[in-house]
Amino acid sequence: MSDTPKTTKPGISKQATAILKQNDRNGYTIPAENLYPHQWLWDSCFIAIGLRWGNADRACTELLSLLRGQWSNGMFPHVIFNDSPEYQRDRGLWCSWVNPSSPDRIATSGITQPPMLAEAVWQVGQCLNIAERRNWYKQILPGLTAYHQWFYNERDPHQEGLTLQVHPWETGLDSTPPWMAELHDHLMPWWIRGIRATHTDTLIGMFRRDLHYAPPGQRFSTLEVLSLYDAQRRLRRKAYDTERVLRHGLFAIQDLTFNCIFIRANTRLQEIAKTARYKLPEDLLANMQKSAQSLEKLWDEQAHTYWSRDFITHRPLKIESIASLMPLYAGTISQEHAEILVRQLENDQKFGPAYPVPSVPLDSPNFDPDRYWQGPTWLNTNWLIIDGLRRYGYHEHADALIETSLEMVEKSGFAEYFDSNTAEPLGADNFSWTAALTIDLMHQRIATSESKKSVPHTTPMTSALQQA
Ligand code: GLC
Repeated sequence: MSDTPKTTKPGISKQATAILKQNDRNGYTIPAENLYPHQWLWDSCFIAIGLRWGNADRACTELLSLLRGQWSNGMFPHVIFNDSPEYQRDRGLWCSWVNPSSPDRIATSGITQPPMLAEAVWQVGQCLNIAERRNWYKQILPGLTAYHQWFYNERDPHQEGLTLQVHPWETGLDSTPPWMAELHDHLMPWWIRGIRATHTDTLIGMFRRDLHYAPPGQRFSTLEVLSLYDAQRRLRRKAYDTERVLRHGLFAIQDLTFNCIFIRANTRLQEIAKTARYKLPEDLLANMQKSAQSLEKLWDEQAHTYWSRDFITHRPLKIESIASLMPLYAGTISQEHAEILVRQLENDQKFGPAYPVPSVPLDSPNFDPDRYWQGPTWLNTNWLIIDGLRRYGYHEHADALIETSLEMVEKSGFAEYFDSNTAEPLGADNFSWTAALTIDLMHQRIATSESKKSVPHTTPMTSALQQA
């Protein structure tokens, strides 16, 4: 790896900007044309992180537009639906209005997604001068604080400092193997088992909208889709009320990725509040302090890794996925544990193909190179890992991962996800967070090369992930 970063094809950042413009729906950005016609929570956060470079005002608008959908109990829903008549079916599927906390004039989903909001707010703030930054933070702090309080009020009933998730869609890594195993083993209803036994899933698959835009081998299986909608229907019947959901034994998992992002978000929230001289409630501060130590409850001393776990029984979900690297991003684990995780990242059999980081390790029986969150590389998880690597001082690993990520985009365009061995584009194209995070990674690369020029770099070369 040389000290001078590789140059990216001219125009790549122009193309990324054009995609964000094309997916702009007047104040918010859809993830991709056709397949994702609404506003998604964590997508908008990643999108704002890219938008801030060219147009910080537009980045602020992207995040402020999320407030339209916030519930009065503090929750940010994972989807705010497009209100055009053609999407009546999507809105009706969720019926967010069955819960009295849902907003009045806007239809949303009834669950949340990884809480990237505090990070995005903070990142956008870094592109503003101090006066603008304070104003920006003050504008969003009440809503953001209410969101973090909601987690403690509703999603941490045993006060463990860890939040629980009630549906795979809440994790953002929708089809990730640990959750899919739960779905198959415990939560597949009899009628879906019947479909499996009679092989009628292929027929039903013909009615799937997503398969008009991506081949079946790159998406959920039809049985999984049916089970996910069944789980969503059960949540709707309980009016998306966590207490009622828990009483009826539906999904309740303390998801590792989600909690890592939440813990990091707590740190960001405190930084934002400090800058804005805003007083956070004492009970929230105490809860956040508890959360900062809570990841160690998910550490497995024998396997030397972190797992998600069942909320009720505390049974760890011992199935490998990219989640095991996310504690780097949380930033609260010890240097010793970070080192163990980085060794997994360096391991060619696990997380080290040509275009890392695969969403499932290569040696896992669940690894599928093309299928959604079951193998392909995604740019948002790379972004989180790059950040985590820097926090623990693995700058060369971070730089190398930026290079392979950008190379993947140059080779294959702004795909939703990529084959981790070949960089073949998969899923939707012109995907907004891929475009936005490409812009951000290009800026990170420039910043690194400038700091290398000013400070002589003496760290010995390591056998990093990939040589750029
Ligand atoms: C898929 C992804 C999810 C994302 C959504 C919109 O469902 O799994 O993380 O938010 O698409 O892009």
